[in-house]
Amino acid sequence: MKGPLKMSDQFSVKVWDLPTRVFHWGLLACVAGAGYSVWVAQEMVWHSRFGYAVLTLCLFRLVWGVVGGHWSRFSTFPPSLRRTRDYLASSELSVTSLGHNPLGTWSIYAMLLFLLLQALSGLGSDDDAGFNGPLTPMLSSNWVSLLTRYHAELGRWVLISLMTVHILAVLWFTVVKRQALIQTMWHGVRQWPVPVTPSADHWRSRLGALLLAGLIATCVYLGLGLLPI
Ligand code: HEM
Ligand code: HEM
Repeated sequence: MKGPLKMSDQFSVKVWDLPTRVFHWGLLACVAGAGYSVWVAQEMVWHSRFGYAVLTLCLFRLVWGVVGGHWSRFSTFPPSLRRTRDYLASSELSVTSLGHNPLGTWSIYAMLLFLLLQALSGLGSDDDAGFNGPLTPMLSSNWVSLLTRYHAELGRWVLISLMTVHILAVLWFTVVKRQALIQTMWHGVRQWPVPVTPSADHWRSRLGALLLAGLIATCVYLGLGLLPI
C-alpha cells in the first residue's frame, strides 16, 4: 500500500476511496431521481426504482463502513458528544479532522438512517392512484396508511431538512473556511500538514466493492421479488 506523498510542506492523503465517492455522488443522483420522478414526472415506477437504488447504496455503505478504506470506516468517525463539544470549542474549527468532523458525523449517520427508513417505508406505501410498494399486499391497511403517512410527510420533511443542513454546511466550509471538501469528495485526496494513514484504494479493494454492491443489489431485487424469474 502506498504511503502518503509529500507535496511541498503538505502531504497528499487519500481520504475517500473510489467506492465511497461513487456511493456519495450515486446517492445524490438517485435521491434527486426519486424526487424528480415523484414531483415532476409523476412516474411512480421510476420513483420506486430510484428508491431501490437508494436502499442498495445505503446497505452497501453500512457494510463498507466496516470493511472499506480507513477513513470510510465507522470506527474512524464514531458519534461522540465529547468529541463534538471539544471540536466546537476548538479555535481551529474544521482543520482538526481529516475525515468527517465530529459535528458532520451526526448528520451523516442521521442521513443514512433516515434514507433507509424512507426507502423501507416506501416499500409499504400506497399512493391511492394505482401504485403501491411491493410489501403492501402483506400488510394490514392500518400499517399501509401509517407507512404512507410517514413516507410522504414526516420522513420526507426530516430528509429535506437533513439534506439542506448538509449542503449548507458543506458550502459554509467551502466558502467561509476555504476547505476543499467538495474536491476531496470528488478526487479523494486532501492536503494535510502531517503524515497520516491513507485509505486503501487499489484495484483489489475496488473490485471487492463492486462485487459487494452487486451482491447487495441482487439480494434487494430477489428479496423484493423484482426479477422476472
Ligand atoms: C441528496 C443530497 C445529498 C445526500 C443524501 C448526501 C449524503 C452524504 C453522505 C451520506 C455523506 C457521507 C459520505 C460517506 O462517508 O459515505 C456525505 C458527505 C459529503 N457530502 Fe453529501 N450528500 C448530498 C448532497 C451533497 C452535495 C450537493 C454536495 C456538494 C455541494 C455534497 C458534498 C459532500 C461532501 C463534501 C461530503 C464530505 C464531508 C466531509 O468531508 O466530512 N453532498 N454526503
Ligand atoms: C429513499 C428513497 C425514497 C425517497 C427519497 C422518496 C421520497 C418520496 C417523497 C418525497 C414522496 C412524497 C411526494 C409528495 O406527496 O410530495 C414519496 C411518495 C411516495 N413514494 Fe417514495 N421515496 C423513496 C423510496 C420509495 C420506494 C422504494 C417506494 C416503493 C417501492 C416508494 C413509494 C412511494 C409511494 C407509493 C408514494 C406516494 C405516497 C402518497 O401518495 O401519499 N418510495 N416518496
